[in-house]
Amino acid sequence: MANDDKYPVESDRRRFVKGVVGGSALAGVLTTGAVAVSSATAPTSGGGGFVNYFGAERTAGPAPRGLPQIPIEIDDDGQLLGIWPEPETQVRDDGTEVVEASTELGGVEYTTEWYQYCGVQTFGGIKPDADGEDQVLRYDAGSYDWMSDVENGDPMLTEHFEDYDEWTNDIGEPGQGKPATGTWRSQNVPPEQTVPILVIKTDQLNVEEMNDSTREWVEASCPQDEDGGRYLGYVNKCTHFCCAPGYRTLDDAAAFGAANEIYCNCHNSVYKPFNITEQQFVALPRPAGDDE
Ligand code: FES
Repeated sequence: MANDDKYPVESDRRRFVKGVVGGSALAGVLTTGAVAVSSATAPTSGGGGFVNYFGAERTAGPAPRGLPQIPIEIDDDGQLLGIWPEPETQVRDDGTEVVEASTELGGVEYTTEWYQYCGVQTFGGIKPDADGEDQVLRYDAGSYDWMSDVENGDPMLTEHFEDYDEWTNDIGEPGQGKPATGTWRSQNVPPEQTVPILVIKTDQLNVEEMNDSTREWVEASCPQDEDGGRYLGYVNKCTHFCCAPGYRTLDDAAAFGAANEIYCNCHNSVYKPFNITEQQFVALPRPAGDDE
C-alpha cells in the first residue's frame, strides 16, 4: 500500500477501530489539512480521531493519503445515492453526547468521519443529522463534454452511464469507464460548503484479484449494473492542501503519468481511481456545538 501516513494499517483487522491519539503523534499528520490542531486531541463535538477508511491509492506527489471513497447504492428510480448511515446519539464516558452516523458495511465500520478533513468537517451537509440534505448524488456544472446533456443539480442516473465502456476524451485512453463530477449533501448550504464528488462507472475494478476484505468492501460500496460496470464514488478534495483534482480533465496530467488517473495539478499528486485500499488518517472533529 502506498500510504505514507504516520500509522501503519493493521490489515488483518476485520473491523475498523478508531480512537484519539496523543498530541505529538497528531502534529505531523495535521499539517496536511491546514486546519486547527489543538482541538483534535480532545474533540468537543462530532468525533474526530484515528479512523480507517477505504480510498483511492495515492501513488505520487505530496498528498499524504488517498481520496476517501463514497459508498454508493442505487434506488428504484435508478438514482445514484451516497450511503449516509442513520444518525445516532452516542453518550461518551464523560456523559456528553455526540451525534454519529456510522454503520457496518462490507465488513467494516463505515462512518461519515471519513470526510472530516480539509475543512469539510465544518460543512453543514456533513453534520450527521443535517437538515434538508439527502443521499442523492447530483451533477455539477460539468467537467466533461457529455455532461452538456444533463443539468447542473440533476440527480445522477444509471441511464446516463449506459455507454460507459465506450466513453473517452482527449486526455486518457478508452475503455476506462465514464466519469461525472457532482455534489453531495450540498442542497441546503452556502456555495463554499459544497462537497465536490467524482463518480466513475467502470469495469476496471479487478474484484477477483482483491484480498478478501477489500473485495467485500468493494462489492458493498460499488454496485454493479446488469452490464457489468460498477459505480465508484470519491470526495474530490485533495488530501494535500484541499484542491479539487481532475480525472481526465487536465492536459498536463500525462506529463506526470496520470492521463488515466486522478491528478491534482496544485502540487502534482496522483491517485489511482481503480486501486482501492484500506488507509488511515486522523479525522478532524466537527465544530463545537454542532450536536446541540
Ligand atoms: S497536490 Fe497539493 S493540493 Fe493537491
